[in-house]
Amino acid sequence: MKTRIGVVGTGYLGRLHARVLTEMPEADVAGFVEVSDAIATEIVETLHLRRFDSVAALAREVECAVVATPTTTHFDIARELIDAGRDVLVEKPIAAEVDEGKRLVDFAAKHNRILQVGHVERYNPAIVAAAPLLRDIRYVEAERLGVFVGRSLDIDVLLDLMIHDLNLVLSLLHSRVTEVRAVGVPVLTEKVDITNVRLELENGAVANLTASRVSQERVRKVRFFSSEAYISIDTKEQEVKGFRLGNRTIEPIAIEVEKKEPLRAELESFLQCVRERKRPLVSGQDGVAAVALAKDVAAAIDASMKKWKR
Ligand SMILES: NC(=O)c1ccc[n+]([C@@H]2O[C@H](COP(=O)([O-])OP(=O)(O)OC[C@H]3O[C@@H](n4cnc5c(N)ncnc54)[C@H](O)[C@@H]3O)[C@@H](O)[C@H]2O)c1
Repeated sequence: MKTRIGVVGTGYLGRLHARVLTEMPEADVAGFVEVSDAIATEIVETLHLRRFDSVAALAREVECAVVATPTTTHFDIARELIDAGRDVLVEKPIAAEVDEGKRLVDFAAKHNRILQVGHVERYNPAIVAAAPLLRDIRYVEAERLGVFVGRSLDIDVLLDLMIHDLNLVLSLLHSRVTEVRAVGVPVLTEKVDITNVRLELENGAVANLTASRVSQERVRKVRFFSSEAYISIDTKEQEVKGFRLGNRTIEPIAIEVEKKEPLRAELESFLQCVRERKRPLVSGQDGVAAVALAKDVAAAIDASMKKWKR
């Protein structure tokens, strides 16, 4: 049976959600809401979808919806959908503020609704293939670089890009962050555009994360070091390399990745959760934890900036 779904916000990412959903046999796309007439016209013409003039009108026609509007609008739109009794996949970050995210989690629990957050890296086939090998991780090194595209300027690079790696560290290392050191620089916007962060976890692990939205190239790499293995993941190329210590030599580990569009995997998983009333792989709580850690990192960056100004 098909699930009736809609999309709110069809800019860069929302139109990808809409396009992928139209290709999925289990989805029946009712339509979309978009404030820009020019963008809406293009979506109607290219994807042949119906435009609704409000979230309320879309909510009457669907069982669930994707929210892909600017982050600062996530709270109001997701809350309206949940209040209307709809399940929601809200793009990352769940909200601009921790308190808003927590309130969305509470609303979803009160209305018995599915609330999934679009941390799409968790559904990336390279991460999915590597995850079972990530035991006893001692050190993580992540590099997430993007060229400046002039989108997501309502948020800094922490909520824009690094939030993916914060979510990966929290969900794959299963330990609490106890110490945060960070430096960040605004380059092309008034918010931090490039940052390097060192996290220490309760179990002794360390994560060294770099994110930039003002680079010359697009890089998505994360490396995990454990007592028994080294796993290097390129989520852009969906490639994983692994090595472990054999008989006094370093031996490659065979890791097979079944390549697939991560957004499709994420949407398939969301629709399955809607049908089977299952907790999503990336829940509202996971989304809140990532934003809370991003706020701690932002505070550490503020503290380091004050030192320069002295
Ligand atoms: N998961 C990922 O890897 C990933 C990648 C890019 C963006 N995102 C997230 O997706 C969201 C959107 O980012 P984007 O790059 O697509 O931005 P964008 O600016 O390209 O698109 C946002 C769209 O929402 C529309 N919009 C704004 N307010 C609206 C409202 N109230 N109702 C309906 N439409 C509205 C805008 O007109 C625009 O078309 C952000 O939260 C961003 O963080 C996630």
